[in-house]
Amino acid sequence: MKMIGKQHLASVLLCLQLYLPIGLAMNGDLLPLIINTWNFSMATSQTWQPLDAGAPAIDIVVQGCSACEELQCDGSVGYGNHPDDIGETTLDAMVMDGKTMQIGAVGDLRRVKDAISVARAVMNFSKHTLLVGESATKFAVAIGFKEESLSTNKSVEAFNEWKKNNCQPNFWKNVWPDPSKSCGPYKPSPGGVKMTPPTANQDISQENHDTIGMIAIDRMNNVAAGVSTNGLNHKVHGRVGDSPIPGAGGYADNDVGGAAATGDGDIMMRFLPSFFVVEQMRMGINPDDACTNAIKRIVRHYPDFSGAVVAATINGTYGAACHNANFVYNIQNPSMPQMMTVPVTCIS
Ligand code: GLY
Repeated sequence: MKMIGKQHLASVLLCLQLYLPIGLAMNGDLLPLIINTWNFSMATSQTWQPLDAGAPAIDIVVQGCSACEELQCDGSVGYGNHPDDIGETTLDAMVMDGKTMQIGAVGDLRRVKDAISVARAVMNFSKHTLLVGESATKFAVAIGFKEESLSTNKSVEAFNEWKKNNCQPNFWKNVWPDPSKSCGPYKPSPGGVKMTPPTANQDISQENHDTIGMIAIDRMNNVAAGVSTNGLNHKVHGRVGDSPIPGAGGYADNDVGGAAATGDGDIMMRFLPSFFVVEQMRMGINPDDACTNAIKRIVRHYPDFSGAVVAATINGTYGAACHNANFVYNIQNPSMPQMMTVPVTCIS
């Protein structure tokens, strides 16, 4: 039998790389992997080395989101920004382990800074999935987290400015006095509930929806998703966004991969985009197309919607899609000498 020469073997391998799905051909270069929404570079750079050295994916997403919480990434993660309509900063976070399908999440968490760590504590120290509001705070304090104000001079000033500006913008509708002109307290409008065509939240901008969503795949081929945010500026007190809702803010399944979302959470949670992306990837659809399909489904109903989804398969392929956003994501795997920030052309 004729022996295959080294050069011939190399070209056969190159052909395989070109024609096989990328994740199958070059798994060694593609894993482990970390991907996160936006250019929250500290979250990626602080976690790459431990992930590469073998740390579990679940630890990595908690560590990355915690870094962002401490740094108050873009004012949209962690304490001290985006006061709600009574002036309080409240936090939403979730962690999901794709190996065990366990989730811990907190919504409307008050007076505790470490939202993603409290979410993990919900997973580790209770049989529940999601705790909210004052009760989530009580749980966190019982577990040993510090209770402290999440307000800063900046958030107090932002709230006072907003009050001076007749509480504009806000998220009320069908109430009196007219919420587009006046502050509350509001009562149901004497004109009743108007069934206007559905619209997305108008007060969405790069500074106002930069949830951190992270997917990590570790050397044991376990995937985890982590999400953390302080939600929308001037949201109605008590509002919980998409971030702590399983399948909306994030989802992870070791059989497939993971996905995480950022954007107008009130709209996104109606479509469970992270779950939808993972289910499409399960059927063999590549991450870019799966994310595009999830965003398109939302846009069909809400043409002015702003948001994005990132995803990675358990083989290390990855992708993203967005609408109405200047969206970038950060990614690192062993084939990259350093973290890459990838701009995404949004679907129109
Ligand atoms: N996606 C973050 C939020 O709407 O709260």
